[in-house]
Amino acid sequence: TKKLILDLDTGIDDTLATAYALGSPEVELIGITGTYGNVLLDQGVRNALAVTDLFGHPEVKVYKGLPHASTKDSFAVQPVSAFIHGQNGIGDVDIPDSDREPETEPAVDFIIDAVKTYGKDLVYVPTGPMTNIAAALDKAPEIKDEIGGIVLMGGALTVCGNVSAWSEANISQDPDAANRLFRSEAPATMIGLDVTLQTLLTYEETRRWRALGTPAGRFLADMTDYYIKAYETTSPHLGGCGLHDPLAVGVAVDPSLVTTLDINMQVDVEGPTRGRTIGDNERLNDPVKTMKVAVGVDVPRFLNEFMTRITGLAKA
Ligand code: BDR
Ligand code: CA
Repeated sequence: TKKLILDLDTGIDDTLATAYALGSPEVELIGITGTYGNVLLDQGVRNALAVTDLFGHPEVKVYKGLPHASTKDSFAVQPVSAFIHGQNGIGDVDIPDSDREPETEPAVDFIIDAVKTYGKDLVYVPTGPMTNIAAALDKAPEIKDEIGGIVLMGGALTVCGNVSAWSEANISQDPDAANRLFRSEAPATMIGLDVTLQTLLTYEETRRWRALGTPAGRFLADMTDYYIKAYETTSPHLGGCGLHDPLAVGVAVDPSLVTTLDINMQVDVEGPTRGRTIGDNERLNDPVKTMKVAVGVDVPRFLNEFMTRITGLAKA
């Protein structure tokens, strides 16, 4: 089986992504590496431990990543999106804290070790800032040729942003790290905001989770309702909440859910468009294109997979 590492700023859609992975028999979630963003690092790690317990998977190890961006202009010294994800990152729903602790091995070392152990069987899925994977590539550059793949949620190929008109949250937290990843020649697939915003969840689905009558079903419903409500304020035209991070996991499990473009990408790190993801014109004619960028998604098929897998997990 394919091995997965999720790198999360455990947040609401990060939690849904975790549930998707745990509900997917094709993959084994071998670890969660914590990052910052929706919440501070420690809160995200605490959430990851608590939700894996609640979903009945206390065997999933959680590793602490780096607490902030690789550059001094990081704005992630405080949570950036309490309005979207709640003060605690999981829609201000109270769930029991885990009695487990995060592992002592740092996330960056765990990522490198996992690549050495599993090689091409390993897919790494960052759905927060790219700080941890950039640090791993700095420390052990050879892992770019050894890893099976990286499926990241972040950026957009068209002009589409949620931090500014052209900048998406995960990339804008640490544009330099994202640019190092994009230019590293690691085999990465970018699942951008312009695609994830086509996959939406509504109260109709959360009602189905609540009706399961299980602690996990109730938690998923209450947490996601908070997220849908926030989207009603920020993006009323959408009619639901964006399934950003779950789509990245969906593609890690089954790449055929999206259509992709082969292209060498970069992140603008200078000037007013800092944080924008865009094709790298200097590598336009390179015969080898190391990245794939999602340009379309089979929405009904993804939503069906999403509901089947997560409902199956929450029923148990
Ligand atoms: C991304 O930013 C975070 O708020 C979400 O969890 C998702 O990873 C969307 O831009
Ligand atoms: Ca996230």
